[in-house]
Order: sequence, then structure tokens, then C-alpha cells
Amino acid sequence: MAVQREARSALLEEALGPGGPIVVFDKVTLAFDEKVILDEISFTLKTGHTKIFLGASGAGKSTILRLILGLLKPDGGHIFVNGDRIDDMTEDQMMVVRADLGMVFQEGALFDSLTVRENVGYKLVEQKVPPEQVNRRVEEVLGFVRLGEFVDRKPSELSGGQRRRVAIARAMAAKPRILLYDEPTTGLDPITSITIDEEIIKLRDIEEVSSIVVTHQLRDAFFVAEHMAVKDGASGVKIERAPASKADEAEFIMLREGRIAFEGNASELREVQRRNPYIEAFLS
Ligand SMILES: Nc1ncnc2c1ncn2[C@@H]1O[C@H](COP(=O)(O)OP(=O)(O)O)[C@@H](O)[C@H]1O
Ligand SMILES: [Mg+2]
Repeated sequence: MAVQREARSALLEEALGPGGPIVVFDKVTLAFDEKVILDEISFTLKTGHTKIFLGASGAGKSTILRLILGLLKPDGGHIFVNGDRIDDMTEDQMMVVRADLGMVFQEGALFDSLTVRENVGYKLVEQKVPPEQVNRRVEEVLGFVRLGEFVDRKPSELSGGQRRRVAIARAMAAKPRILLYDEPTTGLDPITSITIDEEIIKLRDIEEVSSIVVTHQLRDAFFVAEHMAVKDGASGVKIERAPASKADEAEFIMLREGRIAFEGNASELREVQRRNPYIEAFLS
């Protein structure tokens, strides 16, 4: 599989370049014991863009992420990740696909008994990356999320927001092309939530990672869509408001009863919200 991957045509690599389809759902259906959770769901995430999934609890948001990771198989339809069709892959084949996927789990889910360094380097060590290279990368990604000085702490010695940033550093350590965030700000106060949103924006705009963000916080969804990260000086990055053309690259999908109830960009969602102020209540 790895060899096959090397031999992938230049055409395919080009097709996956900026703006190309990096995650595709084509009429994906999934039921758990007769109950249809996803009913012919189709969408495309473009390389370097963000897809934001909204929906009430139980709407099927985490299920979509588990399908992308190949932890679940659909009952119908096809799923493509990075140019490969994954819905019929074996577990061995999925391991290769997962190398390009980083996941930030709901609540962060760090290993409490390991240090920040061990948590962040976990996947790299598993991939048998030499220790000095692991350390270099761990320090690099912790610097990226502004937690360089916490490398030898345990997760219990960090604040909730810091733990989420460690989870983001861990997800990005192996340089995945695609990052999946499952409710990355749940349980955090609004100010801390913004610091997480800023990391998501930095990864998208500075590291050019394609991302899927699941959230039921409209505030975070709009923040991620309507801001951008720009390089500031030699090593700095600043977050500023994105022009409309850039903001429209983030696409929202609202799930309801197994179907897509709304699909559009931030300004279209604001318009829907203006006409129907109950949307916010429905999401939480
Ligand atoms: N392994 C499973 N077996 C049966 N039902 C499940 C399983 N996983 C999820 N579900 C159900 O699927 C629905 C969608 O779940 P989920 O994707 O976790 O929702 P969300 O992340 O939007 O809150 C829920 O009704 C949930 O109870
Ligand atoms: Mg969920």
C-alpha cells in the first residue's frame, strides 16, 4: 500500500492541491439498529478549507468523523479521503490513510499518566521515528500552540484550555494533511474557546491543513470562518478579520435527523439566523 501510494500519479497529487477535493462523502448512509443516523449525506471538503458541522446532540456529527477515520463503515454510499476510496478498505489499508489524519477528540482525551512531551510524541514514537527527531517535532508543535514551557508537565497540571492545545499539538505532530476536531471548545469559557479557535485558524492558514470542525457553538463556528492567521515578523503570527472572499472558504453544514438541513457559508448562515433566531437554541 505504501509503495502504491508513492506511485500515485502526478495528476492525482495535482487534483489534491489547493482547492481540490480532499474528503468526499457521496450519498453516505448509516443506520444503527434500524435507526437511520445519516441519510444519503454528500459533501466535499476542499484542500486548505474548513468544513464546520453543526447540529444538536445525537445529530450524527461524531459519526461522520468516525467514518472518515474508518472506525465505522457506511451501509451505503462512498467515502474518499486524500484521493483514496476508503469505505471498502481493510484495517491494514486504513492505517496508511490514518497517517494523514489528525484527530482532536471531544474533551481532548490526553493520557493522564504521560507527560505533555509523551502525549504529543505518542504517534511519532509508535511510527518508530528516532527519539531526537520526536523531541524536535514535539518542541516545534508545542511552540506552535504556545506551550513550549509545559513540555515536562502532566495533563493534570494544566488548565482546560491548555489541555485542549496539547491535544491539538498531538494531532498535528505527525503532519497530517487533514485535521478533525470533535467539539474542541466544549466545556471551555468563551475567552479560552477563542484561543482554541485561533489554533484551528493558524493550522489552516499557516500550515495549510484541511479541517473538519464539529461544534454546537455558533460563536466558535463564526470566529473560525471569519478570521485568518497571517505571518507577523520572523516567527510571529497574528489573527485578523478575514476578507469576505477568504471567509467564504469555510462552509457550514447543519445536520438534522440524518439529513443536511443547511449548507452554506458564514454570511448565508447569518442570514438564516437573522430570519430564525431559534437556530441557536436548536443547536445547543
Ligand atoms: N455504536 C453505536 N451504536 C448505536 N447507536 C450509536 C452508536 N454510536 C452512535 N450512536 C447513535 O447515533 C446517533 C448519532 O451519534 P453521534 O454521531 O455521536 O452524535 P453527535 O456527535 O452529533 O452528538 C446518536 O443517536 C447515537 O446515540
Ligand atoms: Mg459528538
